[in-house]
Amino acid sequence: MLDKSRYTPFGLEPIEKASRDELIALQTARLKWSLRHAYDNVAAYRRKFEAAGVNPDDFRTIEDLAKFPYTTKADLRENYPFGMFAVPREQIARVHASSGTTGKPTVVGYTAADIGTWSNIIARCIRASGGRPGMMIHISFGYGLFTGGLGMHYGAERLGCTVIPVSGGMTERQVQLLVDFKPDILMATPSYMLVILDEFRARGLDPRAASFQIGICGAEPWTNSMRAEIESAFDIDAIDSYGLSEVIGPGVSHECVETKDGLHIWEDHFYPEVIDPATGVVLADGERGEIVFTSLTKIGMPVIRYRTRDLTRLLPGTARGMRRMEKVTGRSDDMMIIRGVNVFPTQIEEALLSCDGLAPHYQIELRRDGRLDAIRLLVEAKHDHADAEARAAQARILTAHIRSTIGIGVGVVVNDPGKIERSTGKARRVVDLRPKA
Ligand code: DLL
Repeated sequence: MLDKSRYTPFGLEPIEKASRDELIALQTARLKWSLRHAYDNVAAYRRKFEAAGVNPDDFRTIEDLAKFPYTTKADLRENYPFGMFAVPREQIARVHASSGTTGKPTVVGYTAADIGTWSNIIARCIRASGGRPGMMIHISFGYGLFTGGLGMHYGAERLGCTVIPVSGGMTERQVQLLVDFKPDILMATPSYMLVILDEFRARGLDPRAASFQIGICGAEPWTNSMRAEIESAFDIDAIDSYGLSEVIGPGVSHECVETKDGLHIWEDHFYPEVIDPATGVVLADGERGEIVFTSLTKIGMPVIRYRTRDLTRLLPGTARGMRRMEKVTGRSDDMMIIRGVNVFPTQIEEALLSCDGLAPHYQIELRRDGRLDAIRLLVEAKHDHADAEARAAQARILTAHIRSTIGIGVGVVVNDPGKIERSTGKARRVVDLRPKA
């Protein structure tokens, strides 16, 4: 049974309770500082600002931010490895990198003070999830160049928790540790939560009897249907956590356990804008587009109007005064166009999770059918629906469901239980089998 006392906010910082006006005053002062810091100390920003004919002195109110140029992954790549740092390399205490799918990794750097700021932000996220000092946290996010493991780790220590730094993989051992140590919180990607769930079941353990009451999940898109699946399987609250290396790592925005209605952006550290990804025009709150962030406090590697490619919209605050972002539906680069229809893997996930006889694991094969793109959807039967007849029925139901909700035809292949590739971190949802141009 869930302990509802964790739904009462605990240890809020004054800024979490501040009025919009107080927040905007702080953001204005911090934006001014951040633009100046980037311009004075990073040649790449100076060049970009000059090319756009703007100077940090042109910034007076928040509306002026729109005059400044966007930063993209390409800017980081061009300045690989350390060209975006705003302090001498000796003052960088830690480097992380994201591998990306092609080309050079994106390198990010933190001063010791940045690590302190980041730790405080993560401590805030854990509190928002219902975590409290003294709790035990099992971290299954990968440790290493990926920001997930170490980022969460320092914040959990900062809050005063007992940290079990397990990292991803070796699932049998993970489950043994979960059983033996009895942590209060489990942190993992949602797809890895499912792998852990399968291991509980394979061992004949009741997942609902697991000690942890809170799951902190993030680092990849997942739907509310997937959340419901994870929550009911383990009898926990599953909280969404969002972030990206370029902006800081985990901790850019996070859900509050008492509402679970989207992710509060920690606006005292990251200024959000949503833009039309095609034109770059800034959209009003509530409109869907690509979210862009400007760091307000980062010293080692400030980012100015960084284009995330993540699609969402800004919503007013609820559990906290700071604005929320809706659960990310996908990245603009994950969008598939199937016979003229734009499709995201999360839409397929939503449809799959409505089929009782299918497990929540899936992979999408993108193929070429003549001149058009086509999808083959690989899914898995649940153990009690694994005979040929049940599978054929599930394939028919899912195909019809996708046709009626998304409006595309897909070929569904229902595999034996356990046959879909498992991931210990971010799941690979789309496999592109189209011939290279
Ligand atoms: O994934 C940071 C992180 C670690 C966040 C642990 C949460 C928990 P990157 O490896 O740089 O950083 O990948 C960032 O992952 O631009 C999104 O496309 C995606 N992403 C991250 N969190 C979420 C989420 C970490 N909660 C990229 N929902 C981002 C949807 C997410 N997508």
